[in-house]
Amino acid sequence: MWNRNRITDLLGIEYPIFQGPFGGGLSTVELTTTVSRLGGLGGYGAYTLSPQEIYDADQQIKSITDHPYNLNLWVNDHDIVDQEHTQKQYQKTAEIFKPYYDRLNTELPPLPPSFESRFQNQLQVVFDIKPKVFSFMYGLLDADVIDRLKNQGTVVVGNATTVDEAVALENIGVDVIAASGFESGGHRPSFLEKAELSTTGTFALIQLIKDKVKTPLVAAGGIANGRGIKAAMTLGAEGVQIGTAFLATEESGALPVHKEFLFSEAAKSTTLSRAYTGRLGRGITTDISGELLYATDQTLPFPLQTTFMAPMRKAALEQKKHELVFFWCGQIAPILKYKSATALMKSLIEEADELMR
Ligand SMILES: Cc1cc2nc3c(=O)[nH]c(=O)nc-3n(C[C@H](O)[C@H](O)[C@H](O)COP(=O)(O)O)c2cc1C
Repeated sequence: MWNRNRITDLLGIEYPIFQGPFGGGLSTVELTTTVSRLGGLGGYGAYTLSPQEIYDADQQIKSITDHPYNLNLWVNDHDIVDQEHTQKQYQKTAEIFKPYYDRLNTELPPLPPSFESRFQNQLQVVFDIKPKVFSFMYGLLDADVIDRLKNQGTVVVGNATTVDEAVALENIGVDVIAASGFESGGHRPSFLEKAELSTTGTFALIQLIKDKVKTPLVAAGGIANGRGIKAAMTLGAEGVQIGTAFLATEESGALPVHKEFLFSEAAKSTTLSRAYTGRLGRGITTDISGELLYATDQTLPFPLQTTFMAPMRKAALEQKKHELVFFWCGQIAPILKYKSATALMKSLIEEADELMR
């Protein structure tokens, strides 16, 4: 039985198929519960939410299903060094982005207000609501936090983009490692080296990590069908995490125009860029990401760059100048078929069953 292994036993799920959690308001209760009810692991990304919003989402999810789901946070949610540095960087960033703002006849915003990390308060909610699965990205957790989570019955999942990160996660005692390949949509969750130096593809990454760690692995990045599941599991993963294919479904929180783009010719070209948030992430190539490429040292620290770019995003969407909007997207988008999460999940299971019988 391909679908019975350490991960399904540990989590109490039927299929080792994780729906990738989406931060930034793109996760929905409907998507998470649809995937969990069909025997996979729905994911809910909560790093931008207040503690109360996380309680509310958890309540809603638990009122719909008692199947396990995965609550996800970012342990490191800002890159701000100091005010003086940020002020200097603002002058530079404003100059670089002015031509794009001019194309939208929109005024450059002032330096965004300072940002207080939310992680510690959010973590308190995880202790209160005790989700069956808690996943985190952008770093490590203290050993006492891991112990507390495990003692309350929560399975802990960490994200790695390199072998060294996977070893560090194993050393702190996570239960499962999600190995995030370069193909993935969304941010690169690198935390030891710069993200630009942590760009191994999924199918190399899981083999390299498998050689060095004993912790069960979930392959994330570039998987969207049964063939991808079989390939990842043949190479040593015990589960897969699928993001872009679920982001494109009706149940996700992405804008309708974003979903249209995921199914369009434009999705043939994706770029890793820092231009839109200050951290490296993959989306459909835009005039900005194409021209500035990695934009290292050209952007404000995360998350101030997101705030700085918000008026541009709004104006570009209103004026339908989509060549300036960064639509998150992984490299696998051109093979997407399904617009319903139920249909996608059922086909993933059927195809994997068929191929691995
Ligand atoms: C829009 C978007 C937002 C994401 N946000 C998060 C997040 O907050 N936390 C996280 O652990 N992974 C996040 N991811 C990564 C996904 O959970 C998943 O690992 C990844 O999308 C898998 O690669 P794929 O897009 O090729 O399927 C995000 C991905 C996308 C596309």
